[in-house]
Amino acid sequence: MNILVIGSGGREHALAWKLSQSASAESVFVAPGNGGSALEPAITNIPIEPMDFDGLIEFAIREQVGLTVVGPEAPLVAGIVDRFHDAGLACLGPSAAAAQLEGSKSFSKQFLVKHGIPTAAYGSFESVRPACDFARKLPLPVVIKADGLAAGKGVLIAQSYEEADQVIAHMLEGDAFGQAGHRVVIEEFLFGEEASFIVIANGHSYLPFATSQDHKALLDGDLGLNTGGMGAYSPAPVVTDAIHARVLSEIIEPTLAGMIADGHPYKGFLYAGLMIEPTGDVKVVEFNCRFGDPETQPVLLRMRSDLVSLCVGAVNNRLDSCTLEFTDAAAVAVVLAAEGYPQAYRKNEEIKGLSLPMESKVFHCGTLLQGTSIKTSGGRVLAVTALGNSVSAAQSLVYEDIQGIQFAGMQYRRDIGYRAIAREKNSAS
Ligand code: AMP
Ligand code: GLY
Repeated sequence: MNILVIGSGGREHALAWKLSQSASAESVFVAPGNGGSALEPAITNIPIEPMDFDGLIEFAIREQVGLTVVGPEAPLVAGIVDRFHDAGLACLGPSAAAAQLEGSKSFSKQFLVKHGIPTAAYGSFESVRPACDFARKLPLPVVIKADGLAAGKGVLIAQSYEEADQVIAHMLEGDAFGQAGHRVVIEEFLFGEEASFIVIANGHSYLPFATSQDHKALLDGDLGLNTGGMGAYSPAPVVTDAIHARVLSEIIEPTLAGMIADGHPYKGFLYAGLMIEPTGDVKVVEFNCRFGDPETQPVLLRMRSDLVSLCVGAVNNRLDSCTLEFTDAAAVAVVLAAEGYPQAYRKNEEIKGLSLPMESKVFHCGTLLQGTSIKTSGGRVLAVTALGNSVSAAQSLVYEDIQGIQFAGMQYRRDIGYRAIAREKNSAS
């Protein structure tokens, strides 16, 4: 079967790499892909952008693509899956209607409340005064979110009501977030530890992926600006067996049933960003209608099952007959980012050391192949990912391999996996 992956980040490099290992994969194309997918012997990059639906459909028909997997949220929210289906093409992902779970925060909050799924108390507003009044009814800090897609930058946590007033006015009256900021969601702040819980679903049927945890802050100790994710590891020990069971029965199953009841059955990867509260209660922080980045990299490195059969199973509503298994080993991915990220960042720097022998698999996030050299082209550049007998062991391998990789301005966190490592040390002592 010929397969097409849409997107250009580390998630898409990892998806294409895993799909290409299947015995049923013939050609694997990535549109547009990056320097990492360009270097993979079994993968071909295609210069078509993810929002060029006509170009992608024409390509899929011409190359007899039997399965398309969509990486990023923007084409999903804009209805790429509906367009592929109208053209008679198999494409894994939610319809535009179902992708609203990520595309509109007010849609997803309304959905959660309607179906009794635990989440932070909230209000949704289009004008400043009632939004500021509502914020004052919540304890500090207060969470303020732009309603639409804002590439991970639309969430602000205000430490005072005056700051909340400013952020609300800036979002609703300014144009920093474009259309995405013309409605805001104001939320109660949740305390606890976050985890990423990703499933593949078709209607009521689903299979959970291994759990993971992302590190969204730029600097060690979870300090500094929020980013798309500076590293991730799997499994996330905060999700104990008891919590896992609660996530399935209190969050995943009611979500899939609610989407069916509301007329938008969910198909594809569903990512629930969770807050695990000190009491053991679990609340939904957000939904994403796709796999996580960088969570994909450690999760797929641990995956034993065939990803093509799984995706085809979901597309054909046959997930019930599929299995999804992971090795017991832990995996850690550390993101190497460009100088300046997550603000304006440096580009076009040559990356050295990628051909040295190493234990880790290096997934590329923002790179380009230029002639024979690999150059930086994005804020998050590489995700160096390794397996080990524990999170500590996997982390050591990754940091050892990073010593051989260089590009001007490279920055990364030194503590990816620290919560799991603290738990490992505690249980050993
Ligand atoms: P979101 O885009 O909704 O996932 O928010 C991005 C990040 O902001 C989350 O991963 C959390 O770290 C933080 N966040 C969002 N909502 C809340 C909340 N209600 N309480 C605490 N932290 C939150
Ligand atoms: N790593 C967070 C996300 O993919 O949204």
